[in-house]
Amino acid sequence: MSFSVVVLAAGEGSRMKSSTPKVLHQISGKPMIWHILKEALKVSDDVTVVLYHQAERILEFLKSEFENLNFIFQDHQNYPGTGGAVRDIAPKYEKVLILNGDMPLVRAEELKKFNEIEADIVLAVIEIDDPNGYGRVILKEGEVERIVEEKDASAEELKVKLVNGGVYLFKKEVLEKFVPLLSNQNAQKEYYLTDIIALAKQEGLTIKPLLVKEEDFKGVNSKSDLAKAEEIMQTRIKERWMKEGVIMRLPSTIYIDIQTQFFGECEIESGCVFKGKNRITSSLIRSQSVIEESEIQNSSIGPLAHIRPNSKIFNSHIGNFVEVKKSSLRGVKAGHLSYLGDSEIDEGTNIGAGTITCNYDGKRKYKTIIGKDVFIGSDTKLVAPVKIEDEVIIGAGSVVNKDVPKGSLAISRPVLKTISNFYYKFFGKE
Ligand code: UD1
Ligand code: MG
Repeated sequence: MSFSVVVLAAGEGSRMKSSTPKVLHQISGKPMIWHILKEALKVSDDVTVVLYHQAERILEFLKSEFENLNFIFQDHQNYPGTGGAVRDIAPKYEKVLILNGDMPLVRAEELKKFNEIEADIVLAVIEIDDPNGYGRVILKEGEVERIVEEKDASAEELKVKLVNGGVYLFKKEVLEKFVPLLSNQNAQKEYYLTDIIALAKQEGLTIKPLLVKEEDFKGVNSKSDLAKAEEIMQTRIKERWMKEGVIMRLPSTIYIDIQTQFFGECEIESGCVFKGKNRITSSLIRSQSVIEESEIQNSSIGPLAHIRPNSKIFNSHIGNFVEVKKSSLRGVKAGHLSYLGDSEIDEGTNIGAGTITCNYDGKRKYKTIIGKDVFIGSDTKLVAPVKIEDEVIIGAGSVVNKDVPKGSLAISRPVLKTISNFYYKFFGKE
């Protein structure tokens, strides 16, 4: 049976101590709320996000990433708190799954489990060694009696290690009946959604706990939580790619964004970072390389290479201290110490150590185009816009500021002078 989903994202997130709204803080390259909504849209076609604090900014992001979302705005001034957030929701289905917007680790399979239990309220509970930061679930005779928020809890209640995971499946009529009855008589002067549990219990409704794991439902309230959630997400991402056949040397030192993809057989050495939407096919990425928003096929990269956004590197070797940006390289060797920006370089070309594309004149960026089987000598400056045709040799140390025709040698180099015995005269030795 279908159910509606409501994601609460209206809070201030003051514990994050940040000017960025909490739900836009990133985990593995995407905001927390993106992770939640991606999973929520797998289980429901009626997903609503509740907004208030920095609503414009969150809305702009969500509209650029998702279609088919509904938005409502919390009357936060009059009704602050998670209870206030659900006052004006209008779910399409009879059951409503409510999720906090700060749980980036939720997965669709876990969310489906709530709908498999028959009850008026199904509540996610976590058994946890360190309950700090969570509402405590108070049981009586084995049944859920109420939830007490940390700030309202007695010393005894604070010791309870069963906590509220922040996900609830409610029958719509339960919400309609009890949300208007919530009060703000508590430490934070807020309307707590969690108070519905006690109200519903008093009326004899069935409340069933669903035991879940913190690794799926961790709430992120601080930057320390953010780092912990990141670690869990990274482990998940790397396990997935290792299962798909990627070799990882010391995976704990490797960072991979959620949108990076690997194909064929790839190997990644320690300390590498993959940011954004990369597509890496059958390549070796050696230690300490950083790859961003790029496509790499049948190539070896690094150690210590930096591949910046919009690069396409096919059948190439990129060595240490080489930076590539917005460039397309096919069958190219650039072994050492180079900057290749806004360039197109073709098959069989060798880029000598210290080669720089001078792509920026302080106002605009210009392109460098290099053909097939070109030999660029070490320490060459290619002053863009510039085109080097096929089968060209550029002498080491040249400044190339004119196009070079096919088959030629181009060399610009001050004449070397040698003065005999200068050393001895200079240091006064005979
Ligand atoms: C909440 C629960 C707590 C639970 C924990 C699980 C309440 C009162 N407490 O606490 O029992 O253990 O989550 O992670 O629900 N929000 C709004 N409007 C508001 C306030 C908050 O939409 O006025 C949103 C926030 O943006 C956030 C979510 O609700 O995404 C939860 O708010 P947060 O302040 O993180 O609640 P916790 O203190 O973590
Ligand atoms: Mg929270």
